[in-house]
Amino acid sequence: MASTQFELEMLGGAATSRLRRRRPAVDHLPWGTVDPATFTPEGLIEARKVWTNGVFTEYASAAAFTAMAGAFLECGAPIDLSAAAADIVVDELDHAEIASRLVMELGGAVPYHADLALVSPLTTPGVSPIVRAAEIAITTSCVGEALSVSALSKSLAATEHPLVSGVLDHLLADEGPHSRVGAWFLIWAADKLSLGDRAHLATVALDAIAVYAPLWSDARCVSCEAPGALGGLAVSSHARVMVDAVRMRVARPLARLGIDLDGERLDALLPAA
Ligand SMILES: [Fe+2]
Ligand SMILES: [Fe+2]
Repeated sequence: MASTQFELEMLGGAATSRLRRRRPAVDHLPWGTVDPATFTPEGLIEARKVWTNGVFTEYASAAAFTAMAGAFLECGAPIDLSAAAADIVVDELDHAEIASRLVMELGGAVPYHADLALVSPLTTPGVSPIVRAAEIAITTSCVGEALSVSALSKSLAATEHPLVSGVLDHLLADEGPHSRVGAWFLIWAADKLSLGDRAHLATVALDAIAVYAPLWSDARCVSCEAPGALGGLAVSSHARVMVDAVRMRVARPLARLGIDLDGERLDALLPAA
């Protein structure tokens, strides 16, 4: 499938009712409280970009946790752990719906092309089921979700808007466990991973961190920041938050789990303090 405009669809009826019974928060957020007249047209467009991208990242997270749940089942992980990964898929789909409703309040999505056939995480061909599961646990939970907790906390601190803070608060409440499920897996798998597996996983973690480097790059556009009230983050503080998060929320916890990242390569990925 080629890259096409990314759009979400709800089936409605019994499928929506089932989702609402399990994730009712969407019905309790203060929709209809964004007054576009209180923001500049440029600021609104930047906020629509931020949240359109947010809808896609939530959708991609659902695909990543789906792959994680499958990989956990394929390596015989404890079933409550596999259930946690599968349940998080529904959290992420709930987040995708909420973020898309926020985009609609801001004036609608901006053009966003994606090839959904490529949305699931890639793993190293030929590795054992347990290493494949560990790769997804690390890239999705220990790196991706851990960095998302920091970014969302910072965004939440920057807004007092009832709807935007309500949305961020809801997303953030779920992201904590999302960022820990990878560690739960690595603790369970500790005696099943060889030294060679751990060295391989450390490289996978660094590769995953490198993907986020644009978040702390100097090249980010300072003039196109979305308003803090609508969930935007100031470029300079965002970079600092992300660099701290890589060291404190990703590298250090992974080291405690026996996945030691190469210090030199990590330093090369991050700007000097
Ligand atoms: Fe999410
Ligand atoms: Fe998440």
